Amino acid sequence: MKILVTGGAGFIGSHTLIELYRAGHSAVVVDNLYNSDPEALKRVAEIIRVDEIPFVKADIRDREALEEVFAAHRFDACIHFAGLKAVGESVAKPLEYYENNMNGTFVLLDVMRKHGCKNIIFSSSATVYGDPAIIPITEECPKGHCTNPYGQTKSMLEQVMMDLQKADPEWNVVLLRYFNPIGAHPSGRIGENPNGIPNNLMPYITQVAIGRREKLNVFGNDYPTPDGTGVRDYIHVVDLATAHVAALQAIDRKQGLAIYNIGTGHGYSVLDVVKTFVKVNGVEVPYEIKERRAGDIATCYCDPAKAAKELGWKAQYGLEEMCRDSWNWQKNNPNGYQS
Ligand code: NAD
Ligand code: UD1
Repeated sequence: MKILVTGGAGFIGSHTLIELYRAGHSAVVVDNLYNSDPEALKRVAEIIRVDEIPFVKADIRDREALEEVFAAHRFDACIHFAGLKAVGESVAKPLEYYENNMNGTFVLLDVMRKHGCKNIIFSSSATVYGDPAIIPITEECPKGHCTNPYGQTKSMLEQVMMDLQKADPEWNVVLLRYFNPIGAHPSGRIGENPNGIPNNLMPYITQVAIGRREKLNVFGNDYPTPDGTGVRDYIHVVDLATAHVAALQAIDRKQGLAIYNIGTGHGYSVLDVVKTFVKVNGVEVPYEIKERRAGDIATCYCDPAKAAKELGWKAQYGLEEMCRDSWNWQKNNPNGYQS
């Protein structure tokens, strides 16, 4: 298939491009490079041994630019990664987040519809479950209260696409609810490249290990979990990438609306991650226990059985490989794509 990949220069998009090409698909990337570097696309091309990945630098809110892209290509489907994703920043800049994520998706869906491309895979998040009503979380679990504008945009955009598909059954909408993506491509050539102080656990750990930060702050050790620290379902980004290739099957068989949890089904605590990282990589990660972080929940991991049954997709990598590959990326690229 020929796929439009919005946000394809970013962390998950760049890894997904590799798996798409490996499976015989082709792609055109549209990204405004707000949170990414075109070097990532060069490295993807190098890994899969093609001259270049077709790329248009454009904002998905720019209707004319999108119209031009659709006039030049006939797409079978869109994988829609483009969006702003920093939880803390979304609390400080709600209007910017709602505007970018909601409007961007409205324009994209409208232009897709006009050009007869009614197949979309959307990057959603476990955040839509709020504080989950059941653990492990199945797709039947009711959606919960999102504590921040970023999470609200995911939840609302899911609803927008569900309504669209209901009104026009020609649409095939696949909502992938990612759990906690970490790791990097095993080549060490592409990976996560956060701006400023990382919000998420793994990039913070790797920056402590490389000496850019003094110590990790562990947010709370009084949760009702085995060691008191928060438990999450970490998933290797390469597994997450292959889930998008598998999700194309749901489009191929015209499934209408399909929703999948994309995680491993295993929960690991903050201290499990720190200890595994230290053991696998032979580096020190000093840490200190701090207060809980506002908006955090105790435990979040999924039941990934639906994706296994319907898409034949299962995560292959474990926590050790996630820690190894995150470190391999960080140590080879201490300043991300700038080095
Ligand atoms: P990322 O920031 O690395 O990638 C997003 C890309 O979208 C960036 O390259 C950015 O420049 C681009 N972009 C943003 N707004 C745009 C716009 N208006 N027009 C064009 N391009 C735009 O993030 P990521 O981690 O690769 O996440 C990809 C998607 O998955 C996002 O929608 C994110 O919300 C979602 N998601 C991520 C996680 C995670 O932990 N990384 C978890 C759940 C869901
Ligand atoms: C966060 C977001 C979620 C988003 C996801 C992926 C919040 C409340 N949720 O999920 O919406 O989809 O990232 O981008 O921000 N931790 C520390 N020290 C740190 C960082 C994290 O102890 O410096 C702990 C957290 O308390 C948590 C675990 O590590 O228990 C994972 O945190 P993080 O990587 O930020 O992911 P989530 O909070 O699960």
